[in-house]
Amino acid sequence: MTLRFLFLSIVLVISSCNTSRFVDGVSQAGVMADKAMVVSAHPEASKVGADILRQGGNAWDAAIAIQFALAVVYPEAGNIGGGGFAVFRASDGSVGTLDFRERAPLAADKDMYLDQNGEVISRLSLEGSLAAGVPGSVDGMVKLYDKFGSMPWSKLVQPAVDLAGKGFILTERGARVINSRLEAIRENNDHPTAFTVVEQWRAGDRLIQTELSRTLARIGDLGRAGFYEGETAEMIVKEMTRTNGIISMEDLASYESSWRQPLRGMYRGYEVISMPPPSSGGVALIQMLKSIADYPVGKYGHNAFRTVQLMTEIEKRVYADRATYLGDPDYFPVPIDMLVSDEYLNERMADIRLSLPTPSNEIKEGKVEIIESVETTHFSVVDADRNAVSITTTINSYFGNKVVVEGAGFFLNNQMDDFSVKPGVPNQFGLVGAEANAIRPGKRMLSSMTPTIVASGEDLFMVVGSPGGSTIITSVFQTILNVVDFEMGMQEAVNAKRVHHQWLPDRIILEDDALVRRVDRRLRRIGHEMESRGIIGRVDAILVRPDGKLEGGADPRGDDTAIGF
Ligand code: GLY
Repeated sequence: MTLRFLFLSIVLVISSCNTSRFVDGVSQAGVMADKAMVVSAHPEASKVGADILRQGGNAWDAAIAIQFALAVVYPEAGNIGGGGFAVFRASDGSVGTLDFRERAPLAADKDMYLDQNGEVISRLSLEGSLAAGVPGSVDGMVKLYDKFGSMPWSKLVQPAVDLAGKGFILTERGARVINSRLEAIRENNDHPTAFTVVEQWRAGDRLIQTELSRTLARIGDLGRAGFYEGETAEMIVKEMTRTNGIISMEDLASYESSWRQPLRGMYRGYEVISMPPPSSGGVALIQMLKSIADYPVGKYGHNAFRTVQLMTEIEKRVYADRATYLGDPDYFPVPIDMLVSDEYLNERMADIRLSLPTPSNEIKEGKVEIIESVETTHFSVVDADRNAVSITTTINSYFGNKVVVEGAGFFLNNQMDDFSVKPGVPNQFGLVGAEANAIRPGKRMLSSMTPTIVASGEDLFMVVGSPGGSTIITSVFQTILNVVDFEMGMQEAVNAKRVHHQWLPDRIILEDDALVRRVDRRLRRIGHEMESRGIIGRVDAILVRPDGKLEGGADPRGDDTAIGF
């Protein structure tokens, strides 16, 4: 071999390595670590979680600290005024879930968002105090701590107290997102708030939240009582009185999160462990995975014509089931076992054709107009013992109902919009519902949040979840397919472009450049309507690689950050 040929070969190898690790300037290689890993929507929150793990805290300790930190540094979705779901798998293989979803206030009524003519009053379930459910996040963290926490509680809350009191530096994205909702925040708050002290926020500005810092300090000192009783509870109820809300001291005192049996299903030899109702996420995810398992999608290819057509047809049927059968199992007999059974799914998917779409109105009727974007937030944690925690948490829309509790400094949720306020009328995500998800006092509203853990035999394999309202379930679905069927690493699977169908509206939603032109044209030719969307989902996930190393996949669609060691 001549010297020149050798040099050329080396250049070629190096450049082909580079192109395979970077696509459009985005790295396809995730953060690698031997021991532990956190991935969350904000660098400061990931730092807090990683610090707790470095100090010897376990995955639950880190998750609790991240939840509180996100309430400060990611105020659009991180929260103490909302709720969420935790799915966990301990190093001994035992699994569990905690449902800390908000509940309808005791004074809530089925028709509370309808006028005298039975028509939905625009935005009443979305903005202002009446849109808020009873928050569950603080109780959820306390419950997780009581069962699994190993470090002193106050140490887990203190980083958030400091971030709120001393402030933190806004990223470009963070400033832009606050600015985009500043008018609504001004409209919904007569009192000064930490967010409305400037005309516009810029990257590099320091956001200080003194009132929130004091509220978090009360939670750090008093635990549950620091939120559901005393000063904080009184401030919430005062806010209600001032702004026509209905959450009472009794609602707060009686709030309880619930331990629930995880939903478990097999997919190509892996065990998928996910959230049961009142989330629709686990049921829908397992329905989708089991239905696609009959097809060799790995051979078809990622976002190939047959793969997209198949996912679309399965998703239509699964979302139609969601609208009819899913709700709070404490109030409605959700037929979970039937929905995920092989027998049911075989029959349900039997009329799928790979060459022709089934129009959604032939699957079931409905009328839907809009879908929103990536509100809500997800984080994943694995500790040195391989305990894993997967948490998705939300105040629903960005900045929830836009009301900052005066004196307490945090946003309340607008989660009541996740109920079916009137059968057949879509919510902000374009999702329709029926009796199963009708409003009742104390009931939990249906969710799409899909915190999930995948195991391979005795071993942890993946921790995964996403924000994105109705697109959460399909984002998690595709991420699992990307790893299992398309053999991608974690970061590559997270980066990969997503497509989504939710039965109604009857169209495929897709990220820019998700499909090559030939596939796009072919899908249109067989009758699909297509709609481009900037981004779908923001998956933060962790994979255990064959060599035992952890790979963190932080979604490049946001400021998401993986930190491992
Ligand atoms: N609020 C979004 C969800 O729970 O699905």
